[in-house]
Order: sequence, then C-alpha cells, then structure tokens
Amino acid sequence: MAKKITVEQFTQITQALLQVPTPENSQPWKIVTYTDKLEIFHQSKRAKLATFPDDLSVLGIGMLAETLSLSCSVIGVKADIHYDLKGRSDEKPWLTANLSIANAQISSDPLAKGLFLRHSDRRKYIGGSLNDAVFSELQQKMLDKSPAKLYFIDQYPKDYLNLLKNADLSVMLWDEMRKDMGLWVRFTDKQVASTQDGMPWRSLLRNKENWQHYVQSRAWWLSTKLDWFPEWLINLQSKFFDDSGDLTPAHFDDGAGLGCITVKSGYPNDLVEAGRLVLRTWLLLNLRGYGVQPLTNLVSITYPRQLGTFDLPKPLRYLVKDDYAILQNTYGFSENELPIFCFRTGLSMGSYPENAKTLRREDRVLNK
Ligand SMILES: Cc1cc2nc3c(=O)[nH]c(=O)nc-3n(C[C@H](O)[C@H](O)[C@H](O)COP(=O)(O)O)c2cc1C
Repeated sequence: MAKKITVEQFTQITQALLQVPTPENSQPWKIVTYTDKLEIFHQSKRAKLATFPDDLSVLGIGMLAETLSLSCSVIGVKADIHYDLKGRSDEKPWLTANLSIANAQISSDPLAKGLFLRHSDRRKYIGGSLNDAVFSELQQKMLDKSPAKLYFIDQYPKDYLNLLKNADLSVMLWDEMRKDMGLWVRFTDKQVASTQDGMPWRSLLRNKENWQHYVQSRAWWLSTKLDWFPEWLINLQSKFFDDSGDLTPAHFDDGAGLGCITVKSGYPNDLVEAGRLVLRTWLLLNLRGYGVQPLTNLVSITYPRQLGTFDLPKPLRYLVKDDYAILQNTYGFSENELPIFCFRTGLSMGSYPENAKTLRREDRVLNK
C-alpha cells in the first residue's frame, strides 16, 4: 500500500501552489486538500477578464500542474494529475491530483529552486542578449512533441509595437474591462496588507523615482474611485498606470528581447501544456538572473479572436486589426499556431524590493 503523505509535505505543496502567478494577482483558485489528494477549483468571479473566455485560467491550470510536479519532485511525492476541462464550471475541480509517497527514488527537479524566487519584474532591465546561454538552454529543454512552442525576438517591428499599445488602449476604452482591472490595483500599503491580492502600486516599478510613481498612482486611484476617465486622461494612461507605458524600441532594448509562447490548437490540453512551458521558462530565466514581465493584453485578445470564440466590442476592433498576421510575422510561427503568452525579458537590476512583492491569500487553501 502506498504510504500517506504528511501534513508538512502537503503544506510545502500548497505553499508552492499559492505562489503560482495569476493575471492581476487575482488568485482565482481554491485548493481543497484531503488526506491523499488535492483538488483545484476555479473561481470565475475572481478571474480577470470576466467577460472573456477563460483561456488564461486554463493556461493557469498548466502552471499549477507544473508547480505541483516540481514541488512534489523535491519531497519525493508522486502526483497523479487528472484534468476535467470540458464543460468547465466553478462547481467541479479542474484539476485533481492523487498524492502518494513515491516507491522509487524521484530526482529533485532543479527548476523547483525558482518556485519561491519567481516574480514579475517590471523594472528597467540592465541588458542581456538572446545569445546568452540561458536562451539555448531554454530551446534545448523544449519538448519536441509538445504542442507549445517558444519564440524570441530582439527586433520590434513598428506595426507590432503599435498593436501592443492599441491592445492596452482597448482595455482602457472598454468600460467593463477597465472596471474589472481597476478592482485589482492596490494603491496603498494598507490595502495591500488587508486584501493580500491584486497589484500593489509599488510592483509597477517602471521608474526609479518611486515618489513620482506614487503621486501618479494616487491620481489614478482618484480617477478610479470617481470612475472619471476623460479622453485626455485615457491618452495619458500609459504614464500613470499601464505597464507598457514606455512602449518604444528603446525601452525594449533595455533587455534581451520579447518572448512568445504559442499552441497548436484551441484544445484545453494544449493550453495546459503552454502553461507548463510558461512556468518552466519563467523559472529558468529567473534562476539565471533574468527578469520576466508578461505582456498579455494583446495575445489574450488575439487567441480567442483567431479561434472565433470572442471578439472585442465592435467599436474597438479597429485597434487590433490584423493582429494575428502581425504577431505571426513578428515571431515567425507557422500558420495555425495560436499565440497565448508574450513577455519581455532581460537581465534583472538585482534583488527585487520586498515591499513591492505581491502577497498571497492563505484562504485559497481549504483542508478537509
Ligand atoms: C497569464 C498571466 C498574464 C499576465 N499578464 C500580465 C501583463 O499583461 N502585464 C503585466 O505587467 N503582468 C502580467 N502578469 C503578471 C501578474 O500580474 C503577476 O504574476 C501577479 O501580479 C503576481 O505577481 P508576481 O508574478 O510578482 O508573483 C500576468 C500573469 C499571468 C499568470
């Protein structure tokens, strides 16, 4: 009979799962643990992009699955993972893992070392190059048969930069989406401490001058409170709030380049594989001193648009005209591949300030 895993082992696994990044740090998961298994439920109300399809959450399940495998490898636990992603709802678990002590020796995966180190680094990078060893290491680690593929560029065609900018703008111009995003921005340390989720203003560390960023954040906070967004303010939004505010080739030239992960189809299992690849890529880059900042506003629109499962409200569609073709030309992926996760990466300035780190809610885990 398989040996039971201990409470401490469960705790190590669930703590690692809590660290898995989520859009806007919305943490839309509920982890339920039993003596020898755990289940992960989606909480769609907490999921960003409430009116979108749930593609990024399915990708998130892949990131959770990868984290589960990595953290289990360290403590010699075998995780038998099952997904239930057809007819998804909040009522049934999307992922179930039966856990037991492994009979044979499991070797600890070195990537697990990055699980508690990983974070989103939105600061300026201090260089880096796609010729650095980590990028060939990443290519070597990619599985040939995986439906998920990873591409990098260090040249930024103008039409692509415009598209990225427009996708960010579409989020601001779309009332429902803007309000949803606004729910997750934390403008004070007190708010951060009491909610333990969302995005602390300090984590949007684009500028060195934090005080200036703070004033901008407060101004944005006031507009959010009043839901007052005149056109001139929306045009200035990138200066206040948006991560891609300095969206120029000069800005992206601070690092090594941009990455994009694609999948072969719209099947949920392919998205899960993409999620695994996202997490592995992120961990390896962080472990080699590279920062990662996801840039997903565009691809989270392009992916379902290309599949025909979603489109922006009609008046905003001009903003993402030819999105798929431009992405395909930029990254050079083949016809039928679907882009789902883009990011910028470069050598990190150094250790990340503790007070800018995002927090996690402990109430996401329920022990039964
Ligand atoms: C699927 C996904 C999409 C994301 N998209 C963006 C994005 O477009 N821009 C950004 O700055 N951060 C993005 N993030 C980063 C999250 O905001 C971040 O992971 C979360 O706030 C937790 O912070 P941490 O990564 O520092 O732990 C994304 C994360 C995930 C998992």
